[in-house]
Formats: sequence, C-alpha cells, structure tokens
Amino acid sequence: MTMPEGSANNATEDNRNLPSDSLEVLQLSDPHLFADPEGRLLGMQTLLSLQHVIADANKNLPSMDLALVTGDLVHDASPAGYSLLKKELAHLGVPAYCLPGNHDDSKILNRTISGNPIDTPFSIQKKGWSIILLDSNLPGSTLGELNAIQLAKLQETLSSHPNHHTLICLHHHAVAIKSQWLDRIMLNNANDFFAITDRHPQIKGITCGHVHQSFEERRNGVLLMGAPSTCFQFAPKSVDFKIDNRAPGYRRLTLLPDGAIHTDTFHLSRYNCSVDRSSSGYC
Ligand SMILES: [Fe+2]
Repeated sequence: MTMPEGSANNATEDNRNLPSDSLEVLQLSDPHLFADPEGRLLGMQTLLSLQHVIADANKNLPSMDLALVTGDLVHDASPAGYSLLKKELAHLGVPAYCLPGNHDDSKILNRTISGNPIDTPFSIQKKGWSIILLDSNLPGSTLGELNAIQLAKLQETLSSHPNHHTLICLHHHAVAIKSQWLDRIMLNNANDFFAITDRHPQIKGITCGHVHQSFEERRNGVLLMGAPSTCFQFAPKSVDFKIDNRAPGYRRLTLLPDGAIHTDTFHLSRYNCSVDRSSSGYC
C-alpha cells in the first residue's frame, strides 16, 4: 500500500498504527555534495540542503531503524566530499548504507565510506527483511548498467535468503517514467535485471534515485519507487532537462513483517530554494 505524499512540517506525529516490529527506513538520494562545503550546483548549496533534510527526517521519523542513500552522493567524486557526507549522515544516529550513482566513483566511495555505522554493504538482513544495494555506475556514462559481478551477486543473495522479504536499491531507474531525457539515461540493461528479479517472489520493492522526483508504480506486483533529491527536483514528464519548483525531500519506507511496504515522501515546506531554474543541464 502506498500513502499520499505528505508535507514534512505537518507530520508532527505518526498515527499510522503500523506493527511495532516493522522496519522503518529513510531513503535519502542525490545529495550531490562537493569537496568544498560551500559548493553549489545550479546555484544551490547542496550541503546546506542535505543538513536541513536530515534535521527534518530526524523530527519526522523518530522510530527510524536505518537510512539508505541511493547515489549521486558526491558530485565531484572527491574523497573530501565523501568524508563530508559521512559526517552529516552520523547526525541520523542510525546505520546509513550508501550506493553509488553516475556522479560517484565507486572505488573512492568504498574506500572512504566503510565500517559502522556508515557503510557500503552489498546487502543487509534485519527484522525479516533483506535489503540489497546494487552498483549501477557505468564509468564515463550517465547511463546505468549492472555488470556481470553485480548481477551474479544479486542472484546469489536472493538465492541465499529466499524467506526474507526483499527491498532492492539502486541509483538508476529500471523502468521508463515518461520523462524523455531521463529515460534516455536509465538502467541500460533492465532486461538482465528483471530476468533475475522476476524469478524471486520474495522481492517486494525496488527503489531508486537519479530521477530527483517521487514516483511509484507496480510491475508484476512489485512496488517500484523513485525518491526526491535532497537538493533540487526535476520536473515530472518533461521532454528536456527541466528543474521543478519542489523543495528538497526524502522518502520514508516502512517495511512490515508480512512483506507489505508503506511509503510516502516529504518535502521541506519552509526552505528558500535558490536554484537556477533556467539552466539547460549540468555535468
Ligand atoms: Fe542526481
């Protein structure tokens, strides 16, 4: 079941009456930090917006068990940027698991962010759920691709935990979202990915970043989701690159013991979002 999109600052208490042994997950995505703490992308100071989002999520998700950070972590892929990210994620007070996006360097990420509680695992198992974090980074390209190693590890992990409800996370979207320019840079080998996932009924959800906007749809009973960015958003269903006027945001996923997923998104309601909306893109 999915829930309607909410406003972060109106959600002062959680009245959803969900089972207390649910797994409460925060999804942050696309923070696009820089080595320079004052670094800006399209005029927006990305570290500052991440800090506001983390503060807001801490207020709205008091029972958070863990966080997932789904790529484009550091826009300049600098070690200093990853160190900044690690420092900010520590303010969540729960484990945070990161995966790379097209702007990241997987090797630098894995070297800079490892250990407890901020880490880059391939999978974790908790409260009857398995969460798998895939690396869809295709060096030198904005397109995503799951290489043979990632596909083999995915197959192996799914086979090892057939009785765990499963959530898969990756940066790139695996289905088109009717945004022509974004759909040209989606997961290149989605057929290889779905050929594996379609054989494993324990998969309940697949969530991504990259699209800088919320989307939810079902494919063969599996809930497919995209998350807002912690900085600027892209306009839905646009032909060419277009910035939306929505504020920084994040997704909440509540994973129930019976395999159901309750999810909604939050956007900061009092954030002065100074973004250059006239831009035709960035690199
Ligand atoms: Fe991004």
